[in-house]
Amino acid sequence: MNELLNLTKIKTYLSSDCRHYLENAIIFDEIASTNLFLTEGGVHQGKQYSICLAESQTQGRGRLNKSWVSPFGCNLYLSVLQHFPGTPAQLSGLSLAIATVLAEVLTQYGAQGIQLKWPNDVLWQNRKLAGILIELGRHQNAVIGIGLNLAMPDELKQDSIVDLAEIMKKTPERNKLAAQLIENLLKALEQFKQKGLQPFLSLWKHYDKWVDQPVQVLMGAETVEGQYLGVDEKGCMILQTHDGVKRQFFSGEVSLRLRVISPIVKNTREYF
Ligand code: BTN
Repeated sequence: MNELLNLTKIKTYLSSDCRHYLENAIIFDEIASTNLFLTEGGVHQGKQYSICLAESQTQGRGRLNKSWVSPFGCNLYLSVLQHFPGTPAQLSGLSLAIATVLAEVLTQYGAQGIQLKWPNDVLWQNRKLAGILIELGRHQNAVIGIGLNLAMPDELKQDSIVDLAEIMKKTPERNKLAAQLIENLLKALEQFKQKGLQPFLSLWKHYDKWVDQPVQVLMGAETVEGQYLGVDEKGCMILQTHDGVKRQFFSGEVSLRLRVISPIVKNTREYF
C-alpha cells in the first residue's frame, strides 16, 4: 500500500534549515500541473523557495511538449520555485545539476545502477525512472519540476519506463523520499547559485554512461548523428560528427537517443 503525502511527516525527515522552507509548501490531491501552479505565481510568498507537491496531475507536463503520466498516490510530482536572475542559457546547467541530485538521492536510498542521460533523464537499464522540467515563471523565477516514478499502477506500466518499486523490489516510502529530494534540492540550488555547474560536473560524469557512444541528436525535424563526447563546463552536450567536427548543443529543444492554461485545483489538503 502506498502512503499518501503528508507535510508533517515530510518535516520530520528534514533539517531545521530546510523545514523553514516547507512553511511555503503545498500538497494537492489533484492539480493540472505542479509546474504550472508555481509558474503562475502559486504559493510564492516572498520566501526564497516555494514547494508544490501533488498526488496526481491532470495535465502533467514533460520536456519537448510531451505529457507526463501522473496517476494518483503512487509516484512523486514535485516542483520548486526559486528566484533565478540568471539567463535561460544558465538553466541548461541547472538541469544537469538537478539530475545529479536525483541520481544521488536514489543511490543513497539504495537503488543501484542509476544512469543519467543528457540533458536530464534519470534512467535505469535505459528505462526512464525520472524526468526534470525547468520552466521560467514571472518575475525572474524558475520552476524546477521533478517527476519520479515510484510505483506505477500495472495498467500504466510500459517497457520504456521503470519505477523504483521494480528496481528495489519494495514499496518506496513516499514521504521519506520527498523529504530527501527537497533537502538535497534546496542545498544544490544554493550551491548552484554561488558556484554554477562546476561542483556537480564530476558527479554528472560518474552517472553519465553514454560517453563515446554513437548517438542521434533530435532537433524537431532535424537529426544529427555522431559520437557523444560528454558535456562542457556550461552543461552543453558535445557531439563529434562523422566529419570530425565538434558541435555544441544547448538542452532547449533537443533530445538525445542512443543509436542502436489555468490550473485546475481540487482538494487542497494542506496549506502552510
Ligand atoms: C521529462 O519530460 O522528462 C520531464 C518530466 C517532468 C515531470 C514533472 S512532474 C512535476 C512537474 N509538473 C509537471 O507538470 N511536470 C513536472
